[in-house]
Amino acid sequence: MDSLLWILFVIAVLLSSTIILYNKSRYGKVFKSHIFGTPSIVSTDAEVSKIVLQSDAKAFVPFYPKSLTELMGKSSILLINGSLQRRIHGLIGAFFKSSHLKAQITRDMQKYVQKSMESWRDDQPIYIQDETKNAKKKMVKLVQKIIESKRAAAAGGGSSTVPKDVTDVLLLNREDSVPVLMTLAIKYLSDCPAALQQLTEENMKLKRLKDELGEPLSWSDYLSLPFTQTVITETLRMGNIIIGVMRKAMKDIEIKGYLIPKGWCFFAYFRSVHLDESNYDWPYQFNPWRWQDKDISSCNFTPFGGGQRLCPGLDLARLEASIFLHHFVTQFRWVAEEDTVVNFPTVRMKRRMPIWVKRRSDP
Ligand code: HEM
Repeated sequence: MDSLLWILFVIAVLLSSTIILYNKSRYGKVFKSHIFGTPSIVSTDAEVSKIVLQSDAKAFVPFYPKSLTELMGKSSILLINGSLQRRIHGLIGAFFKSSHLKAQITRDMQKYVQKSMESWRDDQPIYIQDETKNAKKKMVKLVQKIIESKRAAAAGGGSSTVPKDVTDVLLLNREDSVPVLMTLAIKYLSDCPAALQQLTEENMKLKRLKDELGEPLSWSDYLSLPFTQTVITETLRMGNIIIGVMRKAMKDIEIKGYLIPKGWCFFAYFRSVHLDESNYDWPYQFNPWRWQDKDISSCNFTPFGGGQRLCPGLDLARLEASIFLHHFVTQFRWVAEEDTVVNFPTVRMKRRMPIWVKRRSDP
């Protein structure tokens, strides 16, 4: 989908945020509104949202404003339904679960990250937001190449394991969500020295071990770092890269005593749940330690959506963020210039996150 359209969509949602917060305190966690020019039910209740997202296409279908759907095209994955959506979703999920593919992505991503970090100098600022986007562009090309080679190989055997729609889907505008995740992690870590120290120690320990063994890091090494994973989880909670998702009711449905009338739009507002103090103590404070004894599969934590359309790229997103963080903290110390997170019209850093780096001398 065109990124300008997303911007317009996000503008509409953010403009509505103030109304939502006002309505939430006035009417409770689920309320009616006309925020998208359509009669809508806004849910800041995680349980209600979970039930809606788990429903099948007889109850709810994806819904996005008319201007967007016209331009997204009828076959966009965000709009398709039923068996086709399940097939494509399954294929993408399986694709990213393949350990062979994860190994290849890990090798290439390490190479890209290493190469771009080699060019960093200590006498000029590094703009983290731009650097993460550049690494990401290379990853998109890599995935494209893998798919094309799979298709070429399968063509000889008669049928391709990767249909055309899947390629399109993988290259959708979501390509910026992982760079935003990496940039926000660096921002939050710059503001929280205790978390940065623990993250660095954990990653240095693994690096030393691997150096001694003379082995490169594998994808499972990256994902096995517990504190690094809590840093990514907390960044996803606070950052709210996707603030919520939309559906449309196909029939009158009652959930937890709330009636969602047929034809109405339903907006599952994740950001509100992630920043609700009844779910998280001090919700605006970056606190990765909160996840050490918390259930990540709780319905109060849904940065990747849930149910039928749970993001199939979630493992890949975590893997890429882990690789980036590992190479960054084990090679550099840095001082961040003053910058702020902007949520409007999309989540990003106001000044592109300038930092001054110094190569670490410790092994
Ligand atoms: C931080 C990174 C990411 C976040 C926060 C994120 C978030 C989400 C969310 C919330 C949804 C649900 C949309 C809905 O219910 O309407 C979704 C769906 C999807 N995501 Fe992600 N995503 C991320 C990374 C990725 C990556 C790296 C890929 C692929 C390379 C990807 C591919 C998809 C696809 C194909 C869908 C549609 C699934 C379906 O409708 O069955 N995402 N994502």
